Parts: sequence; structure tokens; C-alpha cells
Amino acid sequence: MNRSNRDIQRYSAAERANHWVVAISFVLLALSGLAFFHPSFFFMTNLFGGGPWTRILHPYIGLVMAFGFLLMFFRFWQLNIIKDRDVEWLKNVPALVSGEHDKIPPAEKYNGGQKVLFWMLVLCMLGLVITGVLMWRAWWNLPVNVVRAASLIHAISAFGLIGLIIAHVYAAIWTKGTIRAMTRGTVTRAWARFHHPLWYRRMTGEKD
Ligand code: HEM
Repeated sequence: MNRSNRDIQRYSAAERANHWVVAISFVLLALSGLAFFHPSFFFMTNLFGGGPWTRILHPYIGLVMAFGFLLMFFRFWQLNIIKDRDVEWLKNVPALVSGEHDKIPPAEKYNGGQKVLFWMLVLCMLGLVITGVLMWRAWWNLPVNVVRAASLIHAISAFGLIGLIIAHVYAAIWTKGTIRAMTRGTVTRAWARFHHPLWYRRMTGEKD
């Protein structure tokens, strides 16, 4: 059997392009947003052509991420519905961390941890987009207390999102063979059988 017969398609080219547009805009937003957050990060405005340019560009890049994430939401939300088996999976996270894989209930395309992360991403995105639009003073001037409350919630949501993405990237690297799902689009049969047995069976029709 050659290599391509062994591998299983996990993401289409369109899904991967969508994901990487969101990921690249996230990095640009984190850099430009942190530059406004504290003077010790202000030097990062040099990456965007100085302070005023960073201030102009940040919300437009935000629109790119928000629209990109909306597309991702419609692609993936059904696969992230949390079921009883996911709650069982989450209860067994300590066993997962200590390497007792046989105690972990079989996962679908996404496991309980990925599903919880997905909905927390949705929450942070909503917080960021709504408050970001409210304080976009290039277009409208809302009462100062609205802008103040919005900037507080914006900062809290941004810290939440940065924390979630650190966990997301860490988990993707920690679970060997996962990154290629988002670069090449495929995973090995062994990876699929081990980490997502129910998805593996659905894709291949095999019993286990
Ligand atoms: C910055 C570097 C990033 C890396 C290296 C990365 C890596 C990956 C990888 C390898 C997968 C496939 C996981 C699997 O199929 O099991 C994935 C899926 C996904 N990623 Fe990322 N990602 C990054 C950033 C982001 C960002 C910024 C977001 C959104 C804010 C995001 C949202 C997602 C979503 C929604 C999925 C599908 C999983 C699901 O629906 O539960 N990623 N990512």
C-alpha cells in the first residue's frame, strides 16, 4: 500500500486556507493590540509602520479575522456539539495527561477538549468583535462610558483568546502528527485510529 492510500483527508484546501487566514490575522492582532496595551510593548508598532498606522490597521485586520472565523464557525460548529461521551472524555483528562490512553473514551472528529475550546473561542470572538466595533472611533463616537466599558471587555476577551490559542497550539504540537492536518490536509491512519477512533471508523468503514 503506498503512502497516499494510508493517509486520510482531514481538511480540504479551502478549510486550511480559511484557518490560516484566521491564524495569521490573530498573530497580527495580538502584536498590534499588545502594542496599545502597555508602553513596554509600544515598540511593536514599528512592525506596522508606526503608531498611527497601527491604530488604523488593527480594526481592519480585526474584520478579516472576524469574517474568517465566522466562515470557520459555519464549517465546524456541528462537529463541535458537546455530547455525553465528550463529558466522559473531559472527566478523564488526568488519565490522558499521565499516558493512560486505554481509559479515554473514543473521540469523534474532535475530542471533548477541542469542542470546549471551540465554544470558548466563539465566546471570545463575540466579545472582541462587538466591543471592537463599539469603540471604532474612526467611524462613530459613542458616549465615553460605552467606549470605556467596551475597551475593558475587549482587553479581557483578548487575553482569553491569546490564552486559548496558546493552549490550542500547544495541544497541536503535543499530539504528534496533528500539525500536518492543517498543513498538508491529511493524517496517518494510525493517528486517526489512536486519537479519533469514531471518526476513523466513519471515514474508513473499518470496525477498529
Ligand atoms: C497560530 C497558530 C495556530 C496553529 C499552529 C493551529 C493549528 C491547528 C491544527 C493543527 C488544527 C487541526 C486539529 C485537528 O484536526 O485535530 C487546528 C484546528 C483548528 N483551529 Fe487552529 N491553529 C492556530 C491558530 C488558530 C486560531 C488563531 C484559531 C481561531 C481563533 C484557530 C481555530 C481552529 C479551529 C476552530 C480548528 C478546528 C477544530 C475544531 O473545530 O474544534 N486556530 N488548528
